[in-house]
Amino acid sequence: MRVVTSTGSMQGLALGWKRRGNRVGLVPTMGYLHEGHMSLVRRARRWVGAEGKVVVSIYVNPTQFGPKEDLSRYPRDMTRDLGMCREAGVEVVFAPTDAGMYARGRVGEAHSTYVVEETVSQRMEGAERPGHFRGVTTVVAKLFNLVLPDVAVFGAKDYQQAMVIRRMVRDLNFGVRVLVAPTRRERDGLAMSSRNGYLSEGEREQATVLWQAMGEARRIVRGSRGGVPASRLSRELTRWMERRPAVRVGYVAFFDPETLEPVERVRAGVQMALAVWVGKTRLIDNSRV
Ligand code: PAJ
Repeated sequence: MRVVTSTGSMQGLALGWKRRGNRVGLVPTMGYLHEGHMSLVRRARRWVGAEGKVVVSIYVNPTQFGPKEDLSRYPRDMTRDLGMCREAGVEVVFAPTDAGMYARGRVGEAHSTYVVEETVSQRMEGAERPGHFRGVTTVVAKLFNLVLPDVAVFGAKDYQQAMVIRRMVRDLNFGVRVLVAPTRRERDGLAMSSRNGYLSEGEREQATVLWQAMGEARRIVRGSRGGVPASRLSRELTRWMERRPAVRVGYVAFFDPETLEPVERVRAGVQMALAVWVGKTRLIDNSRV
């Protein structure tokens, strides 16, 4: 396994693979890897085959964090991450520096070009985290140009992110196939996340409300005739989740799984997404109702 930190070397390597006809699969991550990330790596391997090349990028991208967010305390463990990638048979870990990615690190000065998706990125995470998706689309576009992947694998855990990337790829004609792999969960339903480590023991217990609320929504909708008004369901679930002392709900959204347009009535097949603060940690999750 090679660890590449220079953007020039990464692109050179990728151009060589292309010339020789190797398929390339990319799994973009911010590191502190867990089983959710590794399931994406296995999916990439299946797609590119034994002769193909799997690249995992590990980069905590500063442009997708807001000024009051957790950029500086975002968890990191490069040694452990490299061990997991080696074990999984990854060919290259691409771990660029801020200086390499953003014109000597001078975001907003030397680096001044961004990729912005203007529709599906607007609601939910886009509304609560202004500028977040601009950072995501920009860094993913850069990774596509550096790694030249045939396929890139994203997790359904970040459903809106995956849909924003799909839209960007279509609108800007990136020659990349975007695969979305299912969310991996802990035994009690909590979606695996690098941020789960922020939770205290008591908060960790309360964090199961996201999974439980989604089950509750499904139960209510399946038990109804012709669905339930979205605003009422959202209000009820919010009240129910906030009975736990550490829990504050950011949003409970119901929308069309393809267009991300909000729906007025929630029926089976509608997509739901939630953002919930548990103490000082912000968690998101989503599922089909
Ligand atoms: P990160 O949060 O590290 O996630 C990297 C990828 O792993 C994303 O596609 C995410 O959806 C997926 N993932 C995270 N938890 C998962 C789980 N429990 N099950 C399945 N997949 C899971 O998302 C990012 O990084 C960044 O925004 C990035 C795309 C790398 C751009 O900086």
